[in-house]
Amino acid sequence: MFIDSHCHLFYDDFKNDLPEVISRANSSGVKYFIVPATNHETARQAIELAEQYPSIFVSVGFHPLDLSEFSTDRLALIEKMILHPKVIAIGEIGIDYFYDRSPQEYQKEIFSLQIELAIRTDLPIIVHTRDSVHDAVEIAVRYAKSYPEWRNKGKRGVFHCFTGDKAQAKTLFDSNFLISFPGPVTFKKSTMPDLIKEIGIENIMVETDSPYLTPVPFRGKRNEPSYIPLIAQKIADTLNISIEEVGRITTANAKKLFNLPI
Ligand code: NI
Repeated sequence: MFIDSHCHLFYDDFKNDLPEVISRANSSGVKYFIVPATNHETARQAIELAEQYPSIFVSVGFHPLDLSEFSTDRLALIEKMILHPKVIAIGEIGIDYFYDRSPQEYQKEIFSLQIELAIRTDLPIIVHTRDSVHDAVEIAVRYAKSYPEWRNKGKRGVFHCFTGDKAQAKTLFDSNFLISFPGPVTFKKSTMPDLIKEIGIENIMVETDSPYLTPVPFRGKRNEPSYIPLIAQKIADTLNISIEEVGRITTANAKKLFNLPI
């Protein structure tokens, strides 16, 4: 069994066939879905999906590429949504210097504000980084160190689509964060398998980031959660373990991180 720890099933890409997408995923062993919203409106949409599908859980927050949507009033709306029983994390939050849509200092400020929300509400975080691993790790680890009561509750967040190095991964693990890997782990030129060889499987999860980051051999098409076994198989081959073992450990990690009632 697998959990897709990061898939944006609220996007229009899934508007016409979500029931089929979910049932194809179930047939390939993917039984639960973590759906991270990107702003207050998609948070509302994601919660609606979670009310329809018992297997969907939701994370709420403002994505670094959606900060034009951010206001303190809207953050207050997000904070109210946390009371919903299917909301299990704060995210997708983080920093993106690749598109650089908002000033870097502003991105860091809003990222910090949302980590403070997670600490206040005792939830884990789902972190997006692009060309920004160094700064995002520094900020998250600083909060983990400053709030030991939050940090020591268990695993406290995931850096999704992790592109950092071994030292950064270890720094995160030491502060109770996990990392996750999507489709690009299957790409020919990916350096992710080298990193996985160095860090092992104990602190990792699998994700699709659907509809983006489609694995080989479907690269270029819409991504969907039923492709999780392709990612898990690549990790299994990389570590010379069985795909069942990858499923067992990554599922246990996701259950524990998000405190899933399953
Ligand atoms: Ni995402």
